[in-house]
Amino acid sequence: MTPLARSAELDGVDPLAPHRDLFVRAPGVVAYLDGNSLGRPLEASVHRVERFLGEEWGGRLIRGWDEGWLDLPLRVGDELARVALGAEPGQVAIGDSTTVLLYKLVHAAVEARPGRTELVVDRADFPTDRYVVEGVARDRGLSIRWIDTDAAAGVTPQLLADAVGPNTAAVVLSHVSYRSGYLADMPALTGIAREAGALVVWDLCHSVGVVPVRLDAWGVDLAVGCTYKYLGGGPGSPAFLYVRSGMQGELRQPVQGWLGSARPFEMAQGYEPAAGIRAFLSGTPPIVGMLAMRDMIALIGEVGIDAVRAKSVALTEFAIQLVDELLPQAALASPRDPAQRGSHITVDHADFESLMPGLWAAGVIPDFRRPRGIRLGLSPMSTSFSEVEVGVRAIAELL
Ligand SMILES: Cc1ncc(COP(=O)(O)O)c(C=O)c1O
Repeated sequence: MTPLARSAELDGVDPLAPHRDLFVRAPGVVAYLDGNSLGRPLEASVHRVERFLGEEWGGRLIRGWDEGWLDLPLRVGDELARVALGAEPGQVAIGDSTTVLLYKLVHAAVEARPGRTELVVDRADFPTDRYVVEGVARDRGLSIRWIDTDAAAGVTPQLLADAVGPNTAAVVLSHVSYRSGYLADMPALTGIAREAGALVVWDLCHSVGVVPVRLDAWGVDLAVGCTYKYLGGGPGSPAFLYVRSGMQGELRQPVQGWLGSARPFEMAQGYEPAAGIRAFLSGTPPIVGMLAMRDMIALIGEVGIDAVRAKSVALTEFAIQLVDELLPQAALASPRDPAQRGSHITVDHADFESLMPGLWAAGVIPDFRRPRGIRLGLSPMSTSFSEVEVGVRAIAELL
């Protein structure tokens, strides 16, 4: 059997294959392998945005705020919580960027652990996570304990246990590493930090919507994540945050704005936080940015996160097989064990950066992460096995 026949066979038995037709077609793109940077839009979202502009905004004008817009950050948050986060209602809100939400929660976590002097973060974490930690540390006079990880893996329980202690106020960790795709053991790592009396802020950017997450059951206190990758929210769509209900009264976030206050329309003197998760909002909610993610969240709910995960594992397994066969001169920089892997893999080669213009010209769109990694982000709802094969073949031929 030729490899192309093999990918056609995998597509033929893929229960999620019919869902690919629900996405907008991109002319000239033969392999979109960057769904973990920016997911593809659903056709349903095109119609939802048009309807919103014409009818809801255009038709209802300012009345829209009282007719549902003000509640949208919490309503969409609850939908997301149920479908993809394993969280009961009232703990998730949409708004701001991941960066800003990380800042709010790291700051709040530090305030909640007075007298502790250290923050812990992975040296290989996504830049924004490191920069936010560095900024909060500078402002609060704290020091940083850096965790050094294996580049093809991530933070293990042992590494975290060695880094935390009685001085640790807060830890920032990614559930799936943006580069290697390493899937961290969220319940174990949360337990280790808790044991040391520290709070963990989890970054779920690369796991939400593609890896099952059980925030309530795993004892997670705080988490953030973006919605433009596997949640199909579109470029710059707002992020989400999770604050365990039992912690909401205890934490104070630093960006005190009117829409996180108890009675915003009284225009009163002095900030008093709203009750519950609303206290973590700040300014006017980005309503337009919340439209498209609703369709993707609904689709994940329909298909079920476990089915999404099953296809994600099959796609990354297939991609690794192809890399082994077709790119023997490159090095896999991701875990081989699917239980330790999210929905992308990274492959390293010194010449990869120079291939990118040729790949884009051929309609093959992977991601490149300096210094030498091609990252293949495989979005289970919209990516076919054939696309993976076309992509890896194109890389091998150009190399
Ligand atoms: C792990 C991780 N955290 C954070 C971000 C980005 O944050 P923001 O939405 O603020 O740009 C990304 C973006 O790709 C990411 O991969």
